[in-house]
Amino acid sequence: MKIVESIHEMRDIAERTRIDGKIIGFVPTMGCLHEGHLSLMRKAREEVDLLIISIFVNPAQFAQGEDYDRYPRDLDEDIRKASEIGADIIFYPGKEKIYPDNYHTVVIVEKITNKLCGVSRPSFFRGVATVVTKLFNIVRPHKAYFGEKDYQQLVVIRKMVKDLNMDIKIIGIPIIRESNGLAMSSRNLYLTDRERASALSLSRSLNRAKEMVDSGERAAERIISEMKSIIESGRFTEIDYIAVCDPEEFEDVDKIKERVLIALAVRIGKTRLIDNCIVEVK
Ligand code: PAF
Repeated sequence: MKIVESIHEMRDIAERTRIDGKIIGFVPTMGCLHEGHLSLMRKAREEVDLLIISIFVNPAQFAQGEDYDRYPRDLDEDIRKASEIGADIIFYPGKEKIYPDNYHTVVIVEKITNKLCGVSRPSFFRGVATVVTKLFNIVRPHKAYFGEKDYQQLVVIRKMVKDLNMDIKIIGIPIIRESNGLAMSSRNLYLTDRERASALSLSRSLNRAKEMVDSGERAAERIISEMKSIIESGRFTEIDYIAVCDPEEFEDVDKIKERVLIALAVRIGKTRLIDNCIVEVK
């Protein structure tokens, strides 16, 4: 496995791989790799000739006061894990390479980025869309893999790729959970033991929502209220949002008639966690 820090070298490798008629698969990450990331890599490994992982903690998607500085970083461990999966390249550009001093351009996906996480993190998706566009332009993948835990991010990237006619297949991979239900996230590392216990209420509330829909409940309001009481029964929890909405435009749904996204963001102490599930009406 090769570590590539230079944009120029990464572009050269991508160009040669394409000329050879080989398929490039790409898993963009901010490092601190966990089972969620590894599941994307495993899927990609099965499907492509050259598997490229990027590790870049993207300052543009963190607002002032968020956790950019303390975001967990562990390059040696990431290298070990990625090489175990059989990744071919880790693209590891520095901040100055991606955003040089005279950098001025952003990519904005409108409308769907103003909902859910976009309300409390108004610049987040602009930062994600911008860096993912740049990474796509450098790595030139045929296929790129994103986790469904960041469901809104996945939809935003799909929309961007479609709207901007990028010739890249976006593949969503199901959420990986710990055995206790907690969705895997690099930010779980911030949780104390007591906060971690409280964080289990997130997946518990989603399971309860699914159960309610399965047993015939159709009123979003009642589902949200039940989820709220489950989450608020835990300590240290502060709900950012709980939404029952359509999975493409994220418009709120009052009465569940078809497939919906149930999504939430909750602060557990200082740590903001997200989770979601798709519910189908039987
Ligand atoms: O999901 C992430 O880790 C990041 O948002 C991504 C897609 C790597 C962009 O920085």
